[in-house]
Amino acid sequence: MTSSTPRQGLHGRRDECQALDQVLAGARAGQSRVLILRGEAGVGKSALVEYLVAKASGCRVLRAAGVESEMELAFAGLHQLCLPLMGHLDRLPGPQRDALSVAFGLSAGNVPDRFLVG
Ligand SMILES: Nc1ncnc2c1ncn2[C@@H]1O[C@H](COP(=O)(O)OP(=O)(O)O)[C@@H](O)[C@H]1O
Ligand SMILES: [Mg+2]
Repeated sequence: MTSSTPRQGLHGRRDECQALDQVLAGARAGQSRVLILRGEAGVGKSALVEYLVAKASGCRVLRAAGVESEMELAFAGLHQLCLPLMGHLDRLPGPQRDALSVAFGLSAGNVPDRFLVG
């Protein structure tokens, strides 16, 4: 099958690109998908992620990157990932909304239940 978007010079990654295409097709169909890309530094993980992002027109793409110095900061990764979505906070059920508000420092309260935050 030919693709309308070129593989942007990714050599030898046909199978990986097909797997990513399937993830994207699932997401466009409203299906939750998880795919883990792992490998040695320089093997081409970021290039594959960029391939996916380039094909994800019309999708909202959220990114977070691990930062070693933020390891001890509670919810640092969640903050990166979800901050662009906070405008939708009021669409969550009360307990989850409250938990996220506290986790993001938007309101005072005890350390929120991690399952409610999740
Ligand atoms: N399949 C590929 N074909 C050509 N160049 C590639 C391919 N995969 C990665 N590269 C190039 O190799 C370098 C390292 O890739 P990168 O995606 O940054 O690796 P990683 O994220 O796994 O550390 C980059 O310059 C990238 O453009
Ligand atoms: Mg990388």
